Amino acid sequence: MKNILVTGGAGFIGSAFARMMINRYPDYNIIVYDKLTYAGNLDNLLPIKDNPRYAFVLGDIADRETVRRTIEEHEIDAIVNFAAETHVDRSILDPDAFVKTDVIGTYILLDEAKKAGIERFLQVSTDEVYGSIEEGFFREGDPLEPNSPYAASKAGGEMLVRAYHVTYGLPTLVTRGSNTFGPYQYPEKLAPFFITEAIDDRPLPLYGDGMQVRDWLYVEDHADAIDLVLHKGVPGEVYNVAGEHEMHNIEVTRLILKLLGKPESLITFVADRPGHDRRYALNCDKLKALGWERKHSFEEAMAATVKWYLENEWWWRKIKTGEYLEYYKKQYAERLRKARKGSS
Ligand code: NAD
Ligand code: TYD
Repeated sequence: MKNILVTGGAGFIGSAFARMMINRYPDYNIIVYDKLTYAGNLDNLLPIKDNPRYAFVLGDIADRETVRRTIEEHEIDAIVNFAAETHVDRSILDPDAFVKTDVIGTYILLDEAKKAGIERFLQVSTDEVYGSIEEGFFREGDPLEPNSPYAASKAGGEMLVRAYHVTYGLPTLVTRGSNTFGPYQYPEKLAPFFITEAIDDRPLPLYGDGMQVRDWLYVEDHADAIDLVLHKGVPGEVYNVAGEHEMHNIEVTRLILKLLGKPESLITFVADRPGHDRRYALNCDKLKALGWERKHSFEEAMAATVKWYLENEWWWRKIKTGEYLEYYKKQYAERLRKARKGSS
């Protein structure tokens, strides 16, 4: 393997993976392929932008011609597909782009990978494809019961990955990661949204009773796991990637406020997300058997993340304008208004 196509590499986890791979493997070329949607951001790749082994291609994974040309021109050996629409709340407001990118885009990539005889195709998936689990932990062989349009689209993409392996023998791999946090995450997901809102003393809209449980995984540990599966994973197999740190949303929120020295009065309970999964939890023994172990504790990683947002306002302040504000209004204005009315 020499030339790796990182689709969605201008996003949060894909850019962490691209930065890590450039530094870790001096003989690899990293070609980032990204549509630069609202979530794609070339600032995430600034640390490697002048590296001669890094290249950027602007393109949609659902655009067959551009995918084909890129695979050919860069003599791609392996594809790691991070490209996706990723936010559950946006998928509830408008599922269209989710089906186009996460299902059809994945299909186009697979099809061009097959034609080009790619050595490895790694699909970055999510624990959300399993649905919610009240007790115990999901294992890789469990049935998929996705509940949001986001989760259903990711599950659809995965099923195509499976079919391309079983039917055409494409050497595919799938990772299913849990809730990931860290620097450079678009401030719509819980951690970066609440950190940046709290810095500005704004209300933190917690859905429902705040007692939903997520497993929290630091972005560097997630990127590390993807690297390991890419090199050591068995084609056709699926690997769960867990942070093995379950927390209620309210506890995560309290920790963020504590790290920032902000009052808990910023927490505002608002109307729940429809179809809100109560708990995600993964068993990741299969990944550990490949040799993976988490390098960061949750507390240390969350403290580093909060510090990063405090020190990098240049990165997030300009994002929280324009389209972001329109989305914020659609998602939160009415919820917050009702919450304020209820408490007065
Ligand atoms: P992100 O939203 O930060 O980044 C997604 C990237 O994909 C952006 O750069 C965007 O421009 C690009 N993109 C979107 N549509 C595209 C298209 N049609 N063609 C090319 N590029 C396109 O997402 P993220 O949080 O970094 O997630 C990356 C992957 O990891 C996704 O596949 C997601 O499902 C998966 N995942 C995320 C988490 C998490 O907690 N964030 C957890 C598990 C799995
Ligand atoms: P999120 O970061 O959107 O990830 P996911 O839905 O993929 O797990 O949300 C994490 C949890 O936080 C989830 O249970 C929903 C909840 N949440 C809120 O309570 N308020 C918010 O404003 C957001 C964005 C999320």
